[in-house]
Amino acid sequence: MSKKAASKKSKPAKKKSSKPASAAAAKPALTESRVFKPSAEFSKAARISSMAQYKKMYDESIKHPDKFFGREAKELSWQKPFTKVLEWKCPNAKWFLGGKLNVSENCLDRHLNGPRKTKAAIIWEGEPGEKRVLTYQQLHREVCRFANVLKRNGAKKGDRVIIYMPMIPEAAIAMLACARIGVMHSVVFGGFSAESIKDRVNDCQAKIVVTADGGYRRGAVVPLKKNVDDALQLGETTVKKVIVYKRTGQDVHIEEGRDVWWNRELEYVDANCPAVALDAEAPLFILYTSGSTGKPKGILHTTGGYLLHSYMTCKYVFDLRDEDVYWCTADVGWVTGHSYMVYGPLALGATSLMYEGAPNWPENDRFWRIIDEYKVSVFYTAPTAIRAFMKWGDHWLKKHDLTSLRLLGTVGEPINPEAWMWYHKLVGGGKCPIVDTWWQTETGGHMITPIPGATPTKPGTATLPFFGVDAAIVDDLGKEVGKDEQGKLVIRKPWPSMLRGIWGDKKRYQETYWSEFKGWYFAGDGARRDKDGYFWIIGRIDDVLNVAGHRLGTAEVESALVSHPAVAESAVVGRPDELKGQGVVCFVTVKEGVKTSRELGEELKKHVRTVIGPVATPDEIRFAAALPKTRSGKIMRRLLKQVAAGEIIKGDTTTLEDINVIAQLAASGDD
Ligand code: WTA
Repeated sequence: MSKKAASKKSKPAKKKSSKPASAAAAKPALTESRVFKPSAEFSKAARISSMAQYKKMYDESIKHPDKFFGREAKELSWQKPFTKVLEWKCPNAKWFLGGKLNVSENCLDRHLNGPRKTKAAIIWEGEPGEKRVLTYQQLHREVCRFANVLKRNGAKKGDRVIIYMPMIPEAAIAMLACARIGVMHSVVFGGFSAESIKDRVNDCQAKIVVTADGGYRRGAVVPLKKNVDDALQLGETTVKKVIVYKRTGQDVHIEEGRDVWWNRELEYVDANCPAVALDAEAPLFILYTSGSTGKPKGILHTTGGYLLHSYMTCKYVFDLRDEDVYWCTADVGWVTGHSYMVYGPLALGATSLMYEGAPNWPENDRFWRIIDEYKVSVFYTAPTAIRAFMKWGDHWLKKHDLTSLRLLGTVGEPINPEAWMWYHKLVGGGKCPIVDTWWQTETGGHMITPIPGATPTKPGTATLPFFGVDAAIVDDLGKEVGKDEQGKLVIRKPWPSMLRGIWGDKKRYQETYWSEFKGWYFAGDGARRDKDGYFWIIGRIDDVLNVAGHRLGTAEVESALVSHPAVAESAVVGRPDELKGQGVVCFVTVKEGVKTSRELGEELKKHVRTVIGPVATPDEIRFAAALPKTRSGKIMRRLLKQVAAGEIIKGDTTTLEDINVIAQLAASGDD
């Protein structure tokens, strides 16, 4: 991206030219033939225990969504019943029209009338080792009190609150408190920088930031409050109040009149806070995610449909039971943390475990220690973590008893069959079904996934669509591709937890998701189906990278790079990475007179960390005299990907303006 392009107001890039073939670098696992059936014992106890039952329910969900979802939705608690299930005027969906409900009431209050009242809602362990358990009743009380703190600090229905917290119960409390009073939250992952916080605050015009002094990560303290301070100094801000939870106890700056301490505020409020009745389509949260431009998209989710889908998937995909100890290892800053650590499990009355820190702190067996100690029975993590565990060695697991596990899940990227098999054998002891769940921030919940008591699984495939999900793989003209052929993944019907828009950008919403194929949702992933109709997700075919299960826009990194005074132009591509799935490789041309050096490379890496956050740290900076471009000036990413991966250049290069630059690039590692 050139400086000029980066400073222009971002526009959704046309993706017409993206060919599924370009996703091949994401090392698809397309040849797996082993099939694993759930054990008779597992199936017998499961809510859905056969493929026949799955198919029957799936058929109904597609042919008669009103009936199917109308019935499922009755399991939620409604303050006013809905009168119509769906109104669909592409790209705008309304689910459960006329209905009123409250997500926090569904996650808390309704469990207080029976034995769940004293059941653990959240079991928490801090990285240094502290332990806390919050029962449903205690969590309800804390949520009500904090909702009153928000009100005391000026939060009103419809306002936006940024949550920038460590993985502590207060992150969930803040989210549920917002939901209780009809305030939208936007959680920002702790690995994002001050500048990224500022962008998000400004985009959603947040009134309040909820944060902590710091959080623990791999033995170090992450300076959360300092990052918020820095963010709010970067120009004008809409933020009136910052509510600070004391977690680490280090010194922090307190801005008189703006900053208040969470704990002290609690002294001024009581524990009575009614859950307001909200329209089923009332906004619940905004979550920023990367797209194909430099500007992250504020994905908007609403109340009824989102809650139903996260609840239903916890019920059918994780088959969660009252006696389960369920652990989703995702950070609350990602959508997985929203749907599968907080909203879904709590709506179902399950016990959700939350761990603050790194998997390898103080040693490589921290996760196995936790599973053993709390007798975790359902475990949900990412392939990138599984590959790291494999690398660290089996002996770390063998020190612990993992027999409490009964179901395993993965999310975030395609899982390679080796990692799947290792997970199956070493973690699951060969007896636990694995649900490989494909979904996105935009989809709100699982879309393609096995049903554990029914679906025979194969290592590397997310298998079949969830209820109501009409998934297909099509070519550039929208025609369904044949068996084993690669194409673009689309969803042809609205589903309850679909995004309702991009905050403040109707046009981008329409163009990004609904324009490539009229009336269908285009996911941005390439995929193929095998002879059994199973979906094999190959990976992103747009300019989005998936680094250790985290989405990162190449354009975001490019605009961070060109904001450095030495940089003239940059192009960022992914290269296959054994552990992280993809690594970030940046090709950079410098301005006239600037000398390239290893030091400058390191400085640029640091610069990207400062601008976006540690989550976006480049793996490699490669300097080049020029970037390879077509005659029309488009950077040839396909070639750069091959150069980054160390492959011999293949394919058509006749449109290159200057073929010599390829040779220079191939030999331009950062030393
Ligand atoms: C990828 C995370 C293969 C995919 C919930 C998608 C997957 C992007 C899987 C969304 C999976 C997620 N198999 N690929 N099981 N799950 N992905 O928005 O490329 O952070 O488009 O949501 O992750 O990432 P996001």
